[in-house]
Amino acid sequence: MDEIKVPKGLTNVIVDQTAIATTDATGNLLYRGYKVAALVDHSDFESTAYLVVNGRMPDNAERKDFIDSLRKYYGVSEQVQEVISILKEKDLMRSLRSLVSLYPYQNTESDKLMLEMAAKFPEFISLSYRLANGLKPLSPIDGTFTERFYHLITGKIDPEKARHVGMLMILYMEHEFNASTFALRVTASTLADPISAFTTALATLKGPLHGGANSEILDFFNKFKDGDEAVKYVDEQIAKGEKVMGFGHRIYKRLDPRAQQVKAKLKEIAGDSKVLQIAEAVENRMWERKSIPANLDFYAAIYMDTLGISQDFYTPLFAASRVFGWIAHYKEQLVGNKLIRPSSEYSGPTGLKL
Ligand code: ACO
Repeated sequence: MDEIKVPKGLTNVIVDQTAIATTDATGNLLYRGYKVAALVDHSDFESTAYLVVNGRMPDNAERKDFIDSLRKYYGVSEQVQEVISILKEKDLMRSLRSLVSLYPYQNTESDKLMLEMAAKFPEFISLSYRLANGLKPLSPIDGTFTERFYHLITGKIDPEKARHVGMLMILYMEHEFNASTFALRVTASTLADPISAFTTALATLKGPLHGGANSEILDFFNKFKDGDEAVKYVDEQIAKGEKVMGFGHRIYKRLDPRAQQVKAKLKEIAGDSKVLQIAEAVENRMWERKSIPANLDFYAAIYMDTLGISQDFYTPLFAASRVFGWIAHYKEQLVGNKLIRPSSEYSGPTGLKL
């Protein structure tokens, strides 16, 4: 069979089709054909999650059913609470990955199991944080998915801030064959169960070149008193050949539309704050020096900070959003499934004698 050599990192290689998301010729990210920018402004988290998972916008009854079906799975069993209290893991991505992998399930139908997991991510994240930090579990509130989520991660009830969190979570929800989703699809292609596929995806999302980037960005802003200091740091990083977190993207080489949308929202809620001035100075410098744009994580980190969310939750919030994309991809992979198994070019020794 003829072999095809592809670039390292599969850059620009189309490995399969998807009907879930794409970036159009003008750089807009689309979910199921809808511009994500419009979903952020005119839809909400629950309807967008329904859209991504089911392929079309819900009517009112379908939206309500979807919310009810998530609500059914709220809460954490005593068994899981016990595991969390034994783990007492402060790194919430480690905790989330472990809890998902240990999740007890029997012959649950996979669509239901995936929704159950998506409903439980916020609970796992909140309880892990609280027990690892000697805090009592919160009594969850009624309300939308994002109101509840905002409460679980901040202990506060604030529908307006929860709405902003919902907008950010829409932007984080889906991005075609990103690293964690592709890893999930590889696992799904072996016909492994959704829990195994989600564990793979969470492990991949955790890395600093992917979802882990957003938790490192704030350190940056805490370190510098103004834009000049931050720009000096950027220059030093470039001189050392080191990366600046929150910049660059495999797909968006000129502009990440999600980053710009978050930046605009941030200006609405925080005005021309010091942190935004530093951010813009860094963004301009990165463009001047390397022509690399800010990615979603860069402005998302500042946005979450402004909304009163602790840094511990940044990557977990990404996971709690992206899980709806993962559900859609798990299902899509299984339609006409083919095992994903590339080949490699051997570069090791041959003919060694014992
Ligand atoms: N800071 C400095 N230089 C960078 C950065 C950065 N953040 N990103 C890319 N570059 C440089 C590389 O050093 C490379 O330079 P070279 O050609 O001189 O060697 C060039 O730009 C191309 O970079 P690659 O890493 O090859 O680009 P790739 O498409 O493979 O990587 C990635 C994309 C991994 C996101 C990269 O830009 C990066 O590491 N960014 C920092 C981590 C980050 O913010 N991740 C979040 C991604 S967005 C998300 O998950 C929502």
